[in-house]
Amino acid sequence: MELSLILLTVSLILCETKTTEPGIKGRLTLRGLQYGWQVGLEEIHKQLKTIEIPEVRGSVSVTILGRIDYYVSKLQIKNLDLSSSDISFSSDTGVNVFINKGQIQVSGLLNINSVLFSASSWLELSVQELTLNGTVGITCDDFGHGAVWNAGCSSNAGNVNLRFHGGAGWLFSMFKGAVMGPIHDALHSQICPAFSKAVENMEKVLINLPVTLSVDEAALFDISLLGPPLITEKTFDLLVKGEFDGRFHHWDLPLSPEEIILPDIDSRMLLMAVSEYTANSAGFVHYKTGALKINITDDMVSGDTFKEINILSFPKDQTAL
Ligand SMILES: *[C@@H]1O[C@H](CO)[C@@H](O)[C@H](O)[C@H]1NC(C)=O
Ligand SMILES: *[C@@H]1O[C@H](CO)[C@@H](O)[C@H](O)[C@H]1NC(C)=O
Repeated sequence: MELSLILLTVSLILCETKTTEPGIKGRLTLRGLQYGWQVGLEEIHKQLKTIEIPEVRGSVSVTILGRIDYYVSKLQIKNLDLSSSDISFSSDTGVNVFINKGQIQVSGLLNINSVLFSASSWLELSVQELTLNGTVGITCDDFGHGAVWNAGCSSNAGNVNLRFHGGAGWLFSMFKGAVMGPIHDALHSQICPAFSKAVENMEKVLINLPVTLSVDEAALFDISLLGPPLITEKTFDLLVKGEFDGRFHHWDLPLSPEEIILPDIDSRMLLMAVSEYTANSAGFVHYKTGALKINITDDMVSGDTFKEINILSFPKDQTAL
């Protein structure tokens, strides 16, 4: 935790030292974010089903039967409903996800051992009123990649219910109450670490995304971030360098980008503005590398057109040039 905070401070400082205006500015509105969340939720449902839940072990004392050791393994998420959720921007930080009344069904295999007997049964555990409040912090690193961190998570697993399939159901029902507590706690203690893991995975994806795109033999397109996103309650602005550069040479463009002001429109999901600077940098690089130069030779033009060009483009007083 401390380490990630230090890293964050460092990257914020590095980000903020660049004060150039962006060539491209992109804006995600709250409407866009919420739409994206609905689409992404399906993917999250799929991902969460592959989460491994660690085994749960313990022992309980039951009247008459005495001490019973139990062991729950093969825990797997069967069903997940996070439809009652909301996503919003967290000003100056990132994005906040709030899941309320989530439901989760987990299956697993319960083994018990006591001095008198041992038995096993499949169990199905359902949790209702699952709550998660997690914030993903969003910034950029020194190289202009996007970067994310876990900026806070709290969770709660509400009511837990346990059912047994097969085996000696009556027997298991006897200590249902005893195992339910530890299983609930084991599940609960997994929610925020699962959130943290998801953010770590996101970070790995971001750090591997390219910050320059190859355009052609002459040019590269720099899409690195110039600074951390500007986040308010309603908007999320990305400042992208948006500059073409030579593949093998760097030329300082004799221009600088002008400030881009995006219109204040809430009804759109995504706004993007590409500046003249970006277009000019493309022209400039291609001019410098010679890609825009062509030699007009005799065999490219017939006698008549050549005369025409001569007359139209090179008036007598300028032919010396
Ligand atoms: C979620 O947590 C943040 C900070 O930890 C808090 O400010 C916010 O009010 C919480 N959201 C809800 C819906 O409880
Ligand atoms: C144009 O001609 C010059 C001189 O012959 C040559 O050096 C140059 O490579 C040519 N450029 C192109 C684009 O063909």
